[in-house]
Amino acid sequence: MSNYHIKHLEEYYQVYRKSIREPENFWEEIAGEHFLWRKKWDNVLSWDFKKPEVKWFEGAKLNITENCLDRHLATRGDKTAIIFEPNNPNEPAEHITYWQLYKRVNKFANVLKSQGIEKGDRVCIYLPMIPELAVAVLACARIGAIHSVVFAGFSSTALATRINDSNCKMVVTSDGSYRGAKTIDLKGIVDEALEQCDSVKTVLVAKRINSEISMKSGRDYWLQPLLDEASDEGKAEVMNAEDPLFILYTSGSTGKPKGMVHTTGGYMVYSAYTFKNAFQYRDGDVYWCTADIGWITGHSYIVYGPLANGATTVMFEGVPSYPDFGRFWEIIQKHKVTQFYTAPTAIRALAKHGAELIESFDLSSLKVLGSVGEPINEEAWHWYNDNVGKRKSPIVDTWWQTETGGIMITPIPYVTPTKPTYATLPFIGIQPALMDEKGEELKGNQVEGRLCIKFPWPGMARTIWGNHDRYRDTYFSAYEDKYFTGDGALRDEVGYYRITGRVDDVIIVSGHNLGTAPIEDAINEHPAVAESAIVGFPHDVKGNALYGYITLKDEGESRDQNNLRKEINHLISERIGPIAKLDKIQFTTGLPKTRSGKIMRRILRKIAEKNTDSLGDTSTLLNPDCVQEIIDNAL
Ligand code: WTA
Repeated sequence: MSNYHIKHLEEYYQVYRKSIREPENFWEEIAGEHFLWRKKWDNVLSWDFKKPEVKWFEGAKLNITENCLDRHLATRGDKTAIIFEPNNPNEPAEHITYWQLYKRVNKFANVLKSQGIEKGDRVCIYLPMIPELAVAVLACARIGAIHSVVFAGFSSTALATRINDSNCKMVVTSDGSYRGAKTIDLKGIVDEALEQCDSVKTVLVAKRINSEISMKSGRDYWLQPLLDEASDEGKAEVMNAEDPLFILYTSGSTGKPKGMVHTTGGYMVYSAYTFKNAFQYRDGDVYWCTADIGWITGHSYIVYGPLANGATTVMFEGVPSYPDFGRFWEIIQKHKVTQFYTAPTAIRALAKHGAELIESFDLSSLKVLGSVGEPINEEAWHWYNDNVGKRKSPIVDTWWQTETGGIMITPIPYVTPTKPTYATLPFIGIQPALMDEKGEELKGNQVEGRLCIKFPWPGMARTIWGNHDRYRDTYFSAYEDKYFTGDGALRDEVGYYRITGRVDDVIIVSGHNLGTAPIEDAINEHPAVAESAIVGFPHDVKGNALYGYITLKDEGESRDQNNLRKEINHLISERIGPIAKLDKIQFTTGLPKTRSGKIMRRILRKIAEKNTDSLGDTSTLLNPDCVQEIIDNAL
């Protein structure tokens, strides 16, 4: 019998050792005993981090939706799979059973097929957090189409870039979306994006806000009438374990977003196994992850991981502040949530509004609290622990990435003793390494360095869509034979890991990864701008906020600076989305540069952090004079 469910610390260590000593035997047992395969593998693992090439369960055949849906029908067909909690608290919640979800996915899959979508085609999904989003994802997987979910807060330009990068044939969207008291014109954004996208032949539109929208004849179709006509039966396409399941875009430090490609078999095993253990999910639990399915957290821990375990997963359409900051607590009470998984930025925003808001709600159903997306600071950790968990529910600080597919470093609740701000121990099968500046691995405890992973795990992304060289260069070239995460970390005296943050030019704002280069590109499009540099600075709710240093062309000098600031942020909103707007914009006559012309972000970062005592030697710069000017005018 495999150790599918870890229950105490000795078991963790024992299973961890086994997973490291005999990884193939270990994963073969987990995969063999807990999942439905049409055909088992010929080979558990082959890998070469130089190429890089990683294959898990090669030769196996399966469909992930048979694992998420079909196999539960006999034993828990009438159990709730998804609880949909709408934006408006007065609109009733929807409970979708496994049977109902199965039928809805089949109907949707049949609509996709009738619209000409075939195995291997890319389908872009640009939807709010409504049940159709989960259904569309599963429907693609059912027929072997590759879904590319784009977070519905991205702008039309960002959407178009992503559609074009993977040549999507179809877009699934809605007339609009609710976001607290606001509505957003999603279909309008899609229409604008599609002016630049020739590959898209069909747009399916779900009705959500009943707004007036324009429908382009021959291209746009209302979803519901098509679903009404479609059969609710359908065979799942038989996929190879290494067939792509989805593409999900993430920001890089340079260039356009990277379409991370996840494949079917390994991703399924890893997302399901981590879900079961990192949240200690047991039958009857009601699990709620507050992320959006537009991010990896939603893919792995709202849709695939929970459903592969036959769990009940909550999907929330709204925001934590609507109608007031008590909404999360109200939802936990209403649905008797047992596992609650959210982000430090949400915790800090809620903490700002006081713990009194919690007191009128009954949170006694909670057993496990989770955190993800960025380092959780000590204050937020304690607030979460004291007020939400009442010091009874362990906090799992889960470190992982879009690229890793699933949780990599985390406590296992009720198993691993927690420690504030520490993600603690590697998950089963994960072999972290900390590297020094010279590229040597730092052995032993009480060391700090760059975080790498030494051995493949089933959930890792296999490539970047259409650009395998970039995949190699970004992740496998910094250190030989290791996957480089882009994060720094330390290992304490007992071997616990603490993630210290990004070591590249990715800045995490409210849990969203933002590359500096695309934001600078957007700013530089402004006719008055000569040059710009973006850095992060600490922000009490967002974790980091963006600080832009901008030099103007001569004609820009005479412009009103506040108007310019507005125009620049507007441009960023249009090109990327409101999440990338700058909190502070400082106009300056120069940016500090090395003699080879590279902008010294390190100096700008220190100034933004108001930490100007340790700027180091600036005399070797090309233009040292501008540093004092920037310090004097810092915001
Ligand atoms: C950061 C989200 C500290 C980290 C699942 C990583 C974290 C990036 C944590 C990936 C955590 C995520 N503690 N930092 N618990 N979780 N990060 O791709 O910098 O959106 O590299 O995946 O978020 O963000 P992504």
